[in-house]
Amino acid sequence: MILPIYIYGQPVLRKVAQPIDKDYPNLAELIQNMKETMYDSDGIGIAAPQVGVSARIVYIDVDVLKDKFPELEGKRLVLINPEVTVDENSPTESREEGCLSVPGIHENVTRHTRIHIRYFDENWQEHDEHIDGYLARVIQHECDHLEGHMFIDHISAIRKQLIRSKLNNMVKGKVDCDYRIKPYKPTKKR
Ligand code: NI
Repeated sequence: MILPIYIYGQPVLRKVAQPIDKDYPNLAELIQNMKETMYDSDGIGIAAPQVGVSARIVYIDVDVLKDKFPELEGKRLVLINPEVTVDENSPTESREEGCLSVPGIHENVTRHTRIHIRYFDENWQEHDEHIDGYLARVIQHECDHLEGHMFIDHISAIRKQLIRSKLNNMVKGKVDCDYRIKPYKPTKKR
C-alpha cells in the first residue's frame, strides 16, 4: 500500500525514532509499504518517520543509479536499528541531495565518504560493514532521519535563507508534488 509522505514541518520528522524488536507489530507489512511508497515517488531511500512511523527502519534501493555508479547495481538494503559511525578520517565530498519529505529542493551537502554500519536486515540477520562512496552518502542521509535530522540542516545559513519561503510554504501545505503527501497543515480543497 502506498502511504502519504510526511512533509517538512511534520513533528515526526524531528523526533528521535525508536529502536524496534522482533515483536514489532506488522513489520513485514510496514517494510513492504515503505518500498511501495518509495518506488511510487521515485525515491532511492526512505526512512519510517517519512511515512509517519517513529521507528528505526530504513529502505534503500540505489540500483537506478548504476549507470553513474556501477558498484550500486542491485544494491537494495533494509536497515533495522542501524548504527552508523562516520569515518572522520575519510575525505569529504559535496554532492546534491534531495528528499521526499522536502519536495522541489535540492542542495549540495558535504559529507564524509566512508562509514561503518551495523544493522539488522528484514530477516534479523546482523550485518557489520564498511561502506564508501555514494551508498555511504545515502545511508547517512536516511539514518539522519532516524535522529530527527534532515539534509537541509547541513546547508549553509545563506542557502537556508534562500529556501526559507519554500520551507514555510511546505509547512502550510503549499507544495507542488506528484505523489501523495501529508503536510503539517494541509491546505483546504477549494
Ligand atoms: Ni530524506
